[in-house]
Amino acid sequence: MQIIQQLYKLFNRRERLQLSVLLVGLIVRACIEMVGVGSIAPFMSVVADPSVVETNEWLRKAYVGFGFESTTSFLIALGLAVVAVLAISNAISALTIWAMLRFSWGMHHRLSLRLLKGYLSQPYSFFVQRNSAQFNNSILSEVQTVMNGVLSPALNVLARFLVVVALIVLIILLDPLLALATVLVLGGAYGGIYYLVRTKQRRLGRQKVQANEKRYKITGEAFGGIKDVKVLGREDAFASRFAPYSWTYSQATASNRAIAQLPRYLLETIAFGGIILIVVYYLSAGEGIARILPTISLYAFAGFRLMPELQNMFGSFASMRFSQAALDDLTDDIAEFKPRGQRDESTEPLAFQQSIELQDVTFRYDGGETPALDAISLRIPKNHTVGLVGPSGSGKTTLVDLLLGLYVPESGAILVDGRPLAEPTMRAWRRQIGYVPQHIFLCDDTIANNIAFGVPPEEVDHKQVERASRIAHLHDFIGSLPDKYRTVVGERGVRLSGGQRQRIGIARALYHDPEVLVMDEATSALDGVTEDAVMEAVSDLSGQKTLVLIAHRITTVRDCDRIFLMKDGKVAETGTYDELAEQSAAFRAMAKLEPA
Ligand SMILES: Nc1ncnc2c1ncn2[C@@H]1O[C@H](COP(=O)(O)OP(=O)(O)O)[C@@H](O)[C@H]1O
Ligand SMILES: [Mg+2]
Repeated sequence: MQIIQQLYKLFNRRERLQLSVLLVGLIVRACIEMVGVGSIAPFMSVVADPSVVETNEWLRKAYVGFGFESTTSFLIALGLAVVAVLAISNAISALTIWAMLRFSWGMHHRLSLRLLKGYLSQPYSFFVQRNSAQFNNSILSEVQTVMNGVLSPALNVLARFLVVVALIVLIILLDPLLALATVLVLGGAYGGIYYLVRTKQRRLGRQKVQANEKRYKITGEAFGGIKDVKVLGREDAFASRFAPYSWTYSQATASNRAIAQLPRYLLETIAFGGIILIVVYYLSAGEGIARILPTISLYAFAGFRLMPELQNMFGSFASMRFSQAALDDLTDDIAEFKPRGQRDESTEPLAFQQSIELQDVTFRYDGGETPALDAISLRIPKNHTVGLVGPSGSGKTTLVDLLLGLYVPESGAILVDGRPLAEPTMRAWRRQIGYVPQHIFLCDDTIANNIAFGVPPEEVDHKQVERASRIAHLHDFIGSLPDKYRTVVGERGVRLSGGQRQRIGIARALYHDPEVLVMDEATSALDGVTEDAVMEAVSDLSGQKTLVLIAHRITTVRDCDRIFLMKDGKVAETGTYDELAEQSAAFRAMAKLEPA
């Protein structure tokens, strides 16, 4: 029941409506099923003893009413009617199954999409704390498990339950005592087995989810770091890390399937043995075969219909138990999604006219004791070029992550033209910033699509791509490629040199023509000559755009209007290159200058 509630919460209004329509269909189906099975009895009694046409009031009325001439033609008509009812009943069953599949797979799609959107709209800090395997696993694998293991079975149970009730009502109408015996024996057996295995099923389900997450994590790491895996020869190491989880996963799934399916063989024996016993019982009570044949055939047919329904219900319950862990995880994840708030969906960049200012900004990472940024104040006027330098760990990346709005300051404020940076305008603000990280992530796609990263291919503005490429000094190189802008870069850009990748990164940052360009050690991995060439592209922009350059090599920021030397989350010194070279020993040491 708790599972059903959890599941129900996942539906939206439209899905709840669809579900009610489905329910009506299922009730109709159960009723027709009852009529279909019930129609066997009169037919069989006429077969066994045609004289009942005279004695039974209902049959007599039908016989006379439709003007039959002989019992044979009546029998044929009756037979056809039974077949017709069965055909309708089966057609409706097929229809409801089709509707159920459509519903649950539609749900599969909507739930995966909702999870992906939900995850993607989480703040950056959410991702820093988790690994990507978890997301992949939840979106692709767990949704699948929940759909196949909980939703489909739940719908199944509902459909089957209604049919079972209809069939049992039918048997009660004919023979209450025997109906009771059937319910007790079959229901009791299935109920008993379920009671015995439910805890085990739940435990197996939990094991499966955990093993599955590990499987995704290990394969993700192996293929993500394939170069290291190869060079270090760690293929077997990854395979043996993978093996135990893969084994647990398979074993848990196998046990679950076995538990769900095996009782069938026991129950079939009981049910069909039971029919034989009933025959023997009636015969020994002195009943003639003609009198008991209709009842027996009804039971046989009802059993033939009832058994698979019961088996299926049992299997579904077992499966729901097994998949409960996946459902728990999924509902937890969805509950954890913070509401998006009044998010700004506008595509208009925020006007930026004067300056960006940090006022006493302090920031601490989750669980961090010392602040990564400690009461920092600085001002970046529009169209100035500033450099951030300092030892590794001094807070440079953290500072620009805050500027990008990826993190929110613990105290203090970030002001753009005097207005504090806040969530409602964050999207608009980010459209004003081009960001070039140290490692450019490239998709296995064309150069044009990599520059217009994430823009749907048909919406890529090729003029902008070319403009950005020219600024990034990439246009001539692309012109030399066989397919020009349509050249595919290969997965993660394996076909490009480091300098070319960084230029693609710069072109990507410039595609939207931002006012501010932030480069976080974007050229640090390059050799000096390549770096100079890349920086030449950037220096074309100085005075026209606001540039924030984080650099490893002091020479990179030589021409900046202002350099901030950071240390332990603070701005230790500020000035132009020449001023700092004169005043600061630390700066001279970093720049490897001779003491003044
Ligand atoms: N995701 C994070 N979680 C916790 N601490 C972090 C995280 N990222 C950086 N830090 C810490 O914050 C400080 C500043 O790091 P960072 O801004 O990356 O320095 P820089 O870019 O100057 O090398 C360091 O002490 C680092 O250990
Ligand atoms: Mg850094």
